[in-house]
Formats: sequence, structure tokens, C-alpha cells
Amino acid sequence: MAPLISIKNLYFSYGEQLVLENINLEVNRGDFLAILGPNGSGKTTLIKLILGLLKPQKGEIRLFGQPSATFKERWRIGYVPQRAIARVDPVFPVSVAEVVSFGLLPKKSFPRFMKASDWEAVREALRQVEMEAYGRRKLSQLSGGQQQRVFIARAIVAQPEVLILDEPTTGVDVTTQERFYDLLGLLNQKGLTIIIVTHDIGIVNKHVKQVACLNRRLVYHGTHEEFCSSPRLKEYVGEHHLVIHRH
Ligand SMILES: Nc1ncnc2c1ncn2[C@@H]1O[C@H](COP(=O)(O)OP(=O)(O)OP(=O)(O)O)[C@@H](O)[C@H]1O
Ligand SMILES: [Mg+2]
Repeated sequence: MAPLISIKNLYFSYGEQLVLENINLEVNRGDFLAILGPNGSGKTTLIKLILGLLKPQKGEIRLFGQPSATFKERWRIGYVPQRAIARVDPVFPVSVAEVVSFGLLPKKSFPRFMKASDWEAVREALRQVEMEAYGRRKLSQLSGGQQQRVFIARAIVAQPEVLILDEPTTGVDVTTQERFYDLLGLLNQKGLTIIIVTHDIGIVNKHVKQVACLNRRLVYHGTHEEFCSSPRLKEYVGEHHLVIHRH
């Protein structure tokens, strides 16, 4: 079976600045990949390239075996963008259910009516993130951790096969983070392929199966176990003074 995401010899620059250099990476069905790297190492840029929001200058990205440039079924990849919580407008009176329903738009053709089955899908997505009781609440009235769950519901409501999260736990307390990773672990067990992007090595917890370290180039890619016993990890922890959660 073709990998869900295949990246070959990828280069990307913003103007003169080379941000990604010769990236080669495969993501297979069932993977739970953490992409680690310091601020400015190109993580968000790589995600935007995968999503087709940016075009590579050189190299190839294939999604579900098809060239990214002509790939149409964007809903097959769910996305929780960086700083989604910080962008919540405290005045805009959008409800939780409405926010989640926006995740169905890529799957719809015009006219984009919401059918009864669509609202059922919204309820189901909220149930999966244990937020079904909050559908009518205003998004701005939820806590950061609750909002984060709503953004996951929005990203999974169209039943994607891959979920990509860019720094989803920034500003969320440790207990909420643990519950959050348990939720991702559960979704992964049910068959969802997950890519989580962060500069926080604390994210490499018991649910993560593969680790990739990015710093303009892909400096490491291997299994979680290899990573935990590799000198690369010790360097990384040493440089960043961070603590790792082993299983
Ligand atoms: N739209 C843009 N135009 C020009 N340069 C950009 C743009 N977006 C990002 N950059 C630069 O590209 C580099 C990589 O940025 P990117 O956002 O991919 O990093 P990141 O690894 O996601 O960082 P962080 O951990 O801070 O989110 C940085 O040097 C950044 O300044
Ligand atoms: Mg980023």
C-alpha cells in the first residue's frame, strides 16, 4: 500500500531564505508521528506544504499515492492550526456546534446546506472529544483545553484518515495535556493516523510511535524507542533543558 504521505527531496524557501532542505519522509497508515524542532526550524512550513497551502520549489509530495498538486480530497487530512485558541475572537458569537460544522465544508459541493446527517456528524465529533454537552455554548466562553477539543472535533468531523496538529498544547496545563494525549492515543487506536508538531519534547509520550527531528533538514527519523535510547535525544534534552516522559 502506498504511504499516506510521501515527501521526496523537498526544498522550500521564503524568498532568499532556505527553510527546508532535502526533506525525505513517509507517513504510513496507523502512524503516530511527532515532528520536533526548535522555533523557526520549518515545522509549520512543512505542514503547510503537506496541506497544499504552500508550493515546493523543488521535490515531490504525494498524498494517498497522488501528486499533491492535483490532490482534490483535502478533507482526508484534518488540520488543527498553530495558535487556533489564541485566535478565538471573544466577541464573535459563534457556537461550538457551528465551529465544528465548518470542518464539513471541504467535503460539500455548492449549495453548502447543512443536512440533518451533517448535524449528526457534528454531534458525533463532539462526543468523540467528550464535548457533546457544549454544542450550544459560545466558543469564547470555553476554557483553553475545552476549545482545543472543539478544534479537534472540527478537524475530525469530515472523518479524515490523517490528523495533523501544529503545537496543540501551547498554554495548556499538564493535566489537561495528558488527557489530550490520551484522547489522541484513543483516536490513533481507532485507526486515525496522527502527526503532531511541537518544539516541546515533553510531547514524546507513551502514545507517540515515531519521532522526526527537523532543523531545516530532517536530522533524525525513527521509532519512539530508538529515539529514547539515541544520543540525539540526549543532545536535544541537553540543549533545551527539557524533561522526557518515558513509558
Ligand atoms: N510567511 C513567511 N514569510 C517569510 N518567512 C517566513 C514565513 N513564515 C515563516 N517564515 C520563516 O521561515 C522559518 C521557518 O518558520 P516556521 O513557521 O516553519 O517555523 P516553526 O518550526 O513552525 O517555528 P515555531 O516553533 O516557532 O512555530 C522561520 O525562520 C520564519 O521566520
Ligand atoms: Mg510553527
